[in-house]
Amino acid sequence: MYVLSDSIVVREASQEDLDDVIAINMETLPEHYPREFWREHLRKWNKSFLVAEVDGKIVGYVMCRVEWGWGFIKNKLLKKGHVISIAVRPGYRRRGIGEKLMVEAMRALKEHYGAEEIYLEVRVSNTPAINLYKKLGFKIIKIIASYYLDGEDAYVMAREL
Ligand code: ACO
Ligand code: ZN
Repeated sequence: MYVLSDSIVVREASQEDLDDVIAINMETLPEHYPREFWREHLRKWNKSFLVAEVDGKIVGYVMCRVEWGWGFIKNKLLKKGHVISIAVRPGYRRRGIGEKLMVEAMRALKEHYGAEEIYLEVRVSNTPAINLYKKLGFKIIKIIASYYLDGEDAYVMAREL
């Protein structure tokens, strides 16, 4: 558990948190997943599935998975942390919660799972998220055309851990 300020806490998610996490995802992002998908990530990669709480209420989450593959930065086969989804409820943004979720997820991916890189896809129009990742040292690796269901392109962004 990590205390960001008096009332903001970032901790590993549990099964009891899934309703809140899914509700935040429904409220904040067009990309939704079946409940079993969330449950699977919680089961397999619990250390990097984190929630942020303010006064005991969940206001944000980050969900990751670990994959084997060719590095985006290093030219070799390695373990990569893949950020599947991150969101903070609108009323709680710009307080450092998204950044804290990412920093702690990166730490867990490296320390618990031995990931050497982290990557994600983000809508090319999603300036807040792109700025967050840039602030954390991510670089744009490539564009995937029409990655999203509505036809928008994605940036793949990555950094070493
Ligand atoms: N405009 C410009 N830059 C921003 C903005 C914004 N509205 N919001 C955050 N940033 C950048 C800034 O660089 C900021 O640092 P600063 O405050 O020192 O300037 C940095 O991000 C960190 O900001 P936080 O306060 O930590 O971020 P926040 O808690 O607001 O969460 C998030 C950011 C998660 C992107 C939030 O805006 C959100 O939930 N958006 C909707 C969901 C979403 O788009 N998720 C990402 C999709 S991609 C994926 O999931 C892999
Ligand atoms: Zn992805």
